[in-house]
Amino acid sequence: MAPTPMAPTPIRLHPNTPKGPAVRLRGFTRRFGENTILDRLDLDIAAGEFVALLGRSGSGKTTLLRTLAGLDSAGGQEVETPQGRAVVFQDPRLLPWKPVWKNVTLGLNGEAPRARAEAALHEVGLGHRLDAWPATLSGGEAQRTALARALVREPQLLLLDEPFAALDALTRLKMHDLVLTLWRTHRPAVLLVTHDVDEAIALSDRVLVLDRGRIAAEEVIAAPRPRTADAASQAVRARLLAHLGVEPSPAAQGPSVVRLAEASLA
Ligand SMILES: Nc1ncnc2c1ncn2[C@@H]1O[C@H](COP(=O)(O)OP(=O)(O)OP(=O)(O)O)[C@@H](O)[C@H]1O
Ligand SMILES: [Mg+2]
Repeated sequence: MAPTPMAPTPIRLHPNTPKGPAVRLRGFTRRFGENTILDRLDLDIAAGEFVALLGRSGSGKTTLLRTLAGLDSAGGQEVETPQGRAVVFQDPRLLPWKPVWKNVTLGLNGEAPRARAEAALHEVGLGHRLDAWPATLSGGEAQRTALARALVREPQLLLLDEPFAALDALTRLKMHDLVLTLWRTHRPAVLLVTHDVDEAIALSDRVLVLDRGRIAAEEVIAAPRPRTADAASQAVRARLLAHLGVEPSPAAQGPSVVRLAEASLA
């Protein structure tokens, strides 16, 4: 008698455990040819923690993020991350020939994709633009669509590579507020790559500086959000800028932290 064919094993979309660290790297090294970009780097991010990563251009921030996203090979080294990961880059990377909602569910398995896209787009304030074409979106709307595409995957780890860098100052402040709202609602661990020290201090629980392939500095930001530019945050800011090789001038100190607290971000 012929054996009964086995039913295919169902794929679990989100087999992550909610407890424990979201990211753990030990002695991680990444080379491109002769150049060692990440050099025996240690990194821990707790579940639900919001971490910002600063570093000079070319210091390896995107390389690290791509490794955590599983976009680059880890060369056999151990990289602990949850399976549910999503990335938002500086460029929203929308397919122009697909409407907004199909961009959001691109590559996503499961039922009721349009309803899931609608829910995610609603959360980023674009519930009315489901059928719009990407070319008709503003820069901020396109980046909110990219956030919805990340959100719909219910990630345990949200990787953001300078997602606000191309936006104007006011849109950027609104995006800060949106990202914090989404983070509070869904509680993924977040790794935000940014060049903006004030953005890092305003948003994150912890700020790291990547330099010469390692985490060269760490600042824990314990102040409740929204954050004001008090003496403590100015001291943190000065230390972080020093690690980035910048001497802060008095005129350049802290305005955007104050703005964040004062601006209407609705
Ligand atoms: N695929 C690659 N092949 C060769 N070299 C690479 C590759 N990807 C990155 N690099 C090099 O690794 C270094 C780190 O690049 P990476 O993009 O991670 O820097 P970054 O910190 O994100 O910089 P930026 O702030 O400018 O975005 C750079 O010198 C870059 O040229
Ligand atoms: Mg980069």
